[in-house]
Amino acid sequence: METNLPATPSPDDAALWHAGRLYLADQRVLPERAEFLALDDARAVAEAIRSMVVRGAPAIGIAAAYGVVLAARDAFQSSGAGWKEVITADLDLLARARPTAVNLSWAIRRMGRLIGCLDTGDPVPPLLAEALAIHADDRVANRHMGELGAELIDRPTDVITHCNAGAIATGGYGTALGVIRSAFAAGKIRRVYADETRPWMQGARLTAWELMHSGIPVTLQADGAAASLMAGGTVGWVIVGSDRIAANGDVANKIGTYGLAVLARYHGVKVMVAAPTSTIDLDVASGAAIPIEARDPEELLSCGGRRLAPAGCEARNPVFDVTPAALVDAIVTERGVVLAPTAEKMRALMSV
Ligand code: MRU
Repeated sequence: METNLPATPSPDDAALWHAGRLYLADQRVLPERAEFLALDDARAVAEAIRSMVVRGAPAIGIAAAYGVVLAARDAFQSSGAGWKEVITADLDLLARARPTAVNLSWAIRRMGRLIGCLDTGDPVPPLLAEALAIHADDRVANRHMGELGAELIDRPTDVITHCNAGAIATGGYGTALGVIRSAFAAGKIRRVYADETRPWMQGARLTAWELMHSGIPVTLQADGAAASLMAGGTVGWVIVGSDRIAANGDVANKIGTYGLAVLARYHGVKVMVAAPTSTIDLDVASGAAIPIEARDPEELLSCGGRRLAPAGCEARNPVFDVTPAALVDAIVTERGVVLAPTAEKMRALMSV
């Protein structure tokens, strides 16, 4: 949002537009250090997305929308009335920054539609207004999803969440953590178990930080601890976000979500996916067609700068997986809730 810049980021400050610059909370160093990086061009925004300064599907889309504003400013300064031809390279660069979160291409397409309607004059004011609207809309969507998701929880329970689908991963409030915030306020959540989420530790660093900041009881656990916790019978729901939902309701989310959903079904625990409709991609028929990002194996082979695995060890590092729709009890969006998702129900939701 165009706003005063706080000295240090709070969970709601993944991205801020201030005095002509984009400020991103550096999510690689939270919570040890809470600091903003100031960005002035689209190349820097693309690199910030690629390198995880900003992460979480909706926050990536919002950052990219502001990146388009910066690209337009540069294109207009360098080429005047010819800015539309010059800007396309930067739009491509932004779109390629990470492959799985469809909110990135969704935001660039929305900005692109506006670009198509503009004349040759200064594009910055209308494009900035659009980026601010994308940001504000996401906050509103999250609040609404919070209410809808909380309504699905019928009695006080413990919940498990995976990765970070909180305020810092979105325009504010959060998707999965938005539901958790609303349900906690309604007295429906006793405790949140946050999976640490190897290898980037979004659960340990970001989810624990956010929930403690909000005064919601949180217990961190190793990713492999979820099964024995579910066996204890206190967990009623797994609540997660998503990076892309296919037309048939298959859900791509942080690696390990699929395993959690399998465990949940075995133990009679329900699975809720909270995501805005900007995360739904009707152009991919099923999860099999969702591009899954493979990051540098080095992220697994070392931890905190210390080499763990023996020299020469091979590693695979897919950072998302696909949970089949059949294992999902509810998809919660700002347009409504889809129970036991199917292609037909997803189409009906998107045509509202
Ligand atoms: O690699 P990341 O940290 O960008 O992955 C993020 C997730 O998997 C989140 O669960 C997802 O984007 C939902 S964010 C509201």
